[in-house]
Amino acid sequence: MRKAIEIVNLVKRFGDTIAVDNLSLDIYEGEIFGFLGPNGSGKTTTLLTIATVYKPTSGDVRVYGYSVVNYGDKVRKLIGIAFQDPKALGIDKPYDLLLWHARVVGYSFNDAKKVVKGVMESLGLWEYRNKYFYQLSGGTRKKVEIAKILIQRPKVAIFDEPTAQVDVTSKHAMWDAIRELRNSGSTIILATNDMFEAERMCERIAIIYRGRLRALGAVKELKDLVPYGDIVEVSIAKQEDAERAVKILSGFGKVGANGLQFMVYLNRGEEKAIEIIDALEKVGIRVTRIMVKEPTLDDVFFYITKAKLKE
Ligand SMILES: Nc1ncnc2c1ncn2[C@@H]1O[C@H](COP(=O)(O)OP(=O)(O)OP(=O)(O)O)[C@@H](O)[C@H]1O
Ligand SMILES: [Mg+2]
Repeated sequence: MRKAIEIVNLVKRFGDTIAVDNLSLDIYEGEIFGFLGPNGSGKTTTLLTIATVYKPTSGDVRVYGYSVVNYGDKVRKLIGIAFQDPKALGIDKPYDLLLWHARVVGYSFNDAKKVVKGVMESLGLWEYRNKYFYQLSGGTRKKVEIAKILIQRPKVAIFDEPTAQVDVTSKHAMWDAIRELRNSGSTIILATNDMFEAERMCERIAIIYRGRLRALGAVKELKDLVPYGDIVEVSIAKQEDAERAVKILSGFGKVGANGLQFMVYLNRGEEKAIEIIDALEKVGIRVTRIMVKEPTLDDVFFYITKAKLKE
């Protein structure tokens, strides 16, 4: 897999604050990569450094091999960023702003008009095209900011909390649009503190907390980090089998009981569920129901940060 972004020992300080603390990771071409972390964890600072808005205090970021320190102009040609807090002059109107943006990124006048209309319609922005920016709601401003990147279609598209303030219907429209952008060849980097968004959108996630990388991997891999984080719930048919069942289930993990229902706490619940059924049925214990519950990304986050805070 080709690396689109290499973050190498990145440090960013603001006075005494270490916003990004020795971060190293790679982002591959064509993936949807997420930075997940609470407020103030360093997501925006990292994204702005990738986009050459900030210079690293030390370390480097390379975008398709180009260092943001030495080749900022090359990097800016490859990247587009939708900012967390959209800034536009109050006198701007979305349509004019986006048309101007489309021209700047290289569309002919006619193509610009077409693409701007298409993107505005897809995000439900068309009816606001001639309002002034100051008249727009927070969520609508956010959509205009996202629209810029959907128009630009950069090789590396960065979204800083794209759906914060955005209503549920529009969230889905945005997620679809971002996924479509990836499918047409862009690499997507997304920052969020919304666990649901991270889980739904991102193929790999970096959990950052207080400027440091705490975990990195696919959602499934992150969930497996929580020891005994999966729960397999098994119900059996007959009371007289209960004692034997507990004995067998104990071989898989910690067991809790509630009547004829048992909870087994373990890892890789999906695989183990099948083995559990086999083990019980082999000795003639009839299973009436089995269900696997995974930990949520919240659970993962709490596990990781608590564990690290204890150090
Ligand atoms: N321009 C700046 N000057 C001084 N300190 C800053 C600046 N930008 C960020 N910081 C500090 O750096 C840390 C990381 O901030 P950052 O905005 O990167 O976090 P974030 O993860 O994006 O948070 P949020 O979820 O609230 O957007 C915070 O402690 C913040 O106060
Ligand atoms: Mg931020």
